[in-house]
Amino acid sequence: MRLIGGVAVAAACILAGAAFAEVAPQDVKIVDGALEMALTDKAGDPVAGRDTFAGRKKGNCLACHMVTSLLDEEQFHGEVGPPLDGVGDVYSAAELRARIVNPKTDLPDTIMPSFYHLGGNRVAEQFAGKTILTAQEVEDVVAYLLTLKE
Ligand code: HEC
Repeated sequence: MRLIGGVAVAAACILAGAAFAEVAPQDVKIVDGALEMALTDKAGDPVAGRDTFAGRKKGNCLACHMVTSLLDEEQFHGEVGPPLDGVGDVYSAAELRARIVNPKTDLPDTIMPSFYHLGGNRVAEQFAGKTILTAQEVEDVVAYLLTLKE
């Protein structure tokens, strides 16, 4: 039974992959701090993006960033990076996408991880050879950040 379940999941993944084209991490091109092309052709979902943003096992963006609108729901907000209130006013989707995908393109010494890039991060072994976020998770987080307006 377990094997059958695994095959079904694998088949579902293949189908999902076929339904939505994705830009592979090695094909990403950041130009002037912006990544114009979305990583998937499924529009980002800000609600899912909020969960990825705050989730300790996913983006964990709150480890380094404070967001005022999440203060009631989430206990710990870090201060290593700037607060992200109002980033949806300041940056375009393309700029936010570039920042999440690979901030080291513009800030070689930043401690912010590259969330959709192979190599270059000092990451836990579980991420070796994988990106920290999937293409869709990046798009979802971009959609969420665009809702942070003041
Ligand atoms: C390890 C700490 C760390 C984590 C985790 C982190 N960041 Fe950052 N982030 C930074 C730092 C530091 C900066 C400021 C740029 C610099 O000096 O490196 C920054 C800058 C930014 C900026 C630009 C803000 C501005 O006002 O210019 C955005 C947007 C951003 N981060 C989004 C995210 C998102 C989204 C995540 C999660 C997917 C995330 N960050 C995770 C440390 C982090």
